[in-house]
Amino acid sequence: MGEIKSMADENRMFPPPKEFVDQAYVKSREEYEKMWKQSVEDPETFWGNLAKDLYWYKPWFKVNREDFAKAEVEWFIGGKTNLSYNCLDYQIEKGKGDKVAIIFQGEPEDDVKKITYKEMLSLVSKFANVLKKKGVRKGDRVAIYLPMIWQLPVAMLACTRIGAIHTIVFGGFSAEALRDRILDAGAKILITANGYWRSGKHVSSKANADKALELCLAEGHTVDKVIVVRRLEDLDVPMKEGRDTWFEDEMAATDIDDVCPAVMMDAEDPLFILYTSGSTGKPKGALHTTGGYMVYAYATVKYVFDIKDTDVYFCTADIGWVTGHSYVVYGPMLNGATSIVYESVPTFPKPDRFWQIIEKFKVNVFYTAPTAVRALMKEGEQWPQGRDLSSLRLLASVGEPFNPEAWLWFHKYIGGEKCPITDTWWQTETGGHMICSLPGAIPTKPGAAGLPFFGVKAVVLKPRSSGDEPAVECDVNEGGELCMARSWPGMMRGVFGDPERFYNTYFIQQPGYYFSGDGARKDEDGYFWLLGRVDDVVNVSGHRLGTAEIEAALNSYEGVAESAVVGFPHDIKGEDLYAYVILKTGVQPSDDLKKALVAHVRKEIGPIASPGKIQFVSGLPKTRSGKIMRRILRKVASGEIDQLGDTTTLADPSIVDEIVAGRQ
Ligand code: PRX
Repeated sequence: MGEIKSMADENRMFPPPKEFVDQAYVKSREEYEKMWKQSVEDPETFWGNLAKDLYWYKPWFKVNREDFAKAEVEWFIGGKTNLSYNCLDYQIEKGKGDKVAIIFQGEPEDDVKKITYKEMLSLVSKFANVLKKKGVRKGDRVAIYLPMIWQLPVAMLACTRIGAIHTIVFGGFSAEALRDRILDAGAKILITANGYWRSGKHVSSKANADKALELCLAEGHTVDKVIVVRRLEDLDVPMKEGRDTWFEDEMAATDIDDVCPAVMMDAEDPLFILYTSGSTGKPKGALHTTGGYMVYAYATVKYVFDIKDTDVYFCTADIGWVTGHSYVVYGPMLNGATSIVYESVPTFPKPDRFWQIIEKFKVNVFYTAPTAVRALMKEGEQWPQGRDLSSLRLLASVGEPFNPEAWLWFHKYIGGEKCPITDTWWQTETGGHMICSLPGAIPTKPGAAGLPFFGVKAVVLKPRSSGDEPAVECDVNEGGELCMARSWPGMMRGVFGDPERFYNTYFIQQPGYYFSGDGARKDEDGYFWLLGRVDDVVNVSGHRLGTAEIEAALNSYEGVAESAVVGFPHDIKGEDLYAYVILKTGVQPSDDLKKALVAHVRKEIGPIASPGKIQFVSGLPKTRSGKIMRRILRKVASGEIDQLGDTTTLADPSIVDEIVAGRQ
């Protein structure tokens, strides 16, 4: 490890190995620059050509139109297509019918199902017919609360086949979080499972789903139909007569045909909604549409993963997050690739499960998150050394900046010093990769996200303090706000049901630009280095959480008067949550109360949102106008108490001493 550390200090660049370059789609920075230039200066030709790799019932008449001042973006205007058709029928037409589309690896080692493109088409068509039988039509919202099992891609592709809008809720979210998403989306149907495997134990999804539906009823919203996958043979769950049916029974019904024509969708017809955290308490439903998302997912998998027909590809993200949408299911299938869906955690039964899966299926391209790498690095290199990882040719990362120590460990022990590592910066909102280094073209700098993908005009702008100031670009290596000067095909088109929020969240901070909410700097070689969020969003183990949401959960607990939550650095998770809590008069602070607060947040949002530290305080550092100075709370939480800065504008500066003294 000593050797690795010193390499990090050298700030080395890692050029792609020659064997990789020789077979790559893009082989040099010059080639990349040329393509990038065309992608932003002549999108009509660049994106038009790429889109022609896919199937359209009717071609577009114009590639793109945008007006950021009105938060309006359109791609492939007038084009008609269907995403499910492109992932299935079109692949079969191209001769890939007998190729494996999805390899499902359950937590039990022998629980494997390989599904070819032809078989997938049959399953998806059947399930699309089941949905139709249940009354689902184009434009209806379908909530999906499923674990990482093969039925999840089947359900997604069935929705998109008939033009239904899926909204997938991560299986780790609580009943309350599921309720909020079902209500906001107005979903009338829910697809769930009786349960799933987690570290040798059964976890029931149905219990949470039932509770969520009761909570929906209390708000006057009825979900009429629930389809339940029997993932665990021997887990009994209550089934509500007239509402709940088994997936397996529905699929086996004699009136269910395995042919279902795909619905012709306009390029701008809604495709899916995926909820993500923002600076306010309410998660926002990022709305993606059909044509642009499809072309972007296709293009990024092709170029960023340099995907080849023979590749076996493994992305460890849960499909409940955007990474799983674009890079477990849609992007790989649009490229006719073989993608692995793994049910469980990296550490079961032993901390070499990922490495064992790579060995077992001879994985060539492996996409994961720095937090997972750090957790597995801690377990030691004997785990990957006990496995044959020689099939790997490319590694990729997402979710947070890749700290050089973990990067170098990944490079050495997983990539055998022969695989390029491409970091990918992007967001739920962006639909696909935005900043990343094409693996055959661009030398990697550990810790940097790299260069903009095709069509992405990324800039770092100085923060503005008033509405009249023009946008000004930062100097080289000067930190600022990462923004996009133009739209790209995969960009979200709105916040479901709340156009104003879309405009206010992304288009007013820097007029004329899409505002990402991330800080960044651009170095002398044009590489972008991400510096974390500039708003009140925290990234815990690659999961994005709004601190306002967690505060709302804490404040709803009896005895809590007020709270403030900030992020602080954590070795494995990247960031963890630190909660400052003011109790109501007469309520005594105690360790039991801390435990109860953690349990309450888990119930309201999910285990991912559990605060790592809670400090009871008598007040918060507020300005005279009542605004919490979060900067101070962040500094205390991360132990930088000698860098608190100016505290004289606080209404009561003495509160800072109390907070510092009681630091957890
Ligand atoms: O802060 C950035 C961080 O994750 C945020 C997006 O989170 P989410 O919408 O949940 O999507 C995660 C998967 C795409 C970003 O605003 N982020 C994501 N990737 C990186 C990153 N930060 C640094 N480097 C990355 N590669």
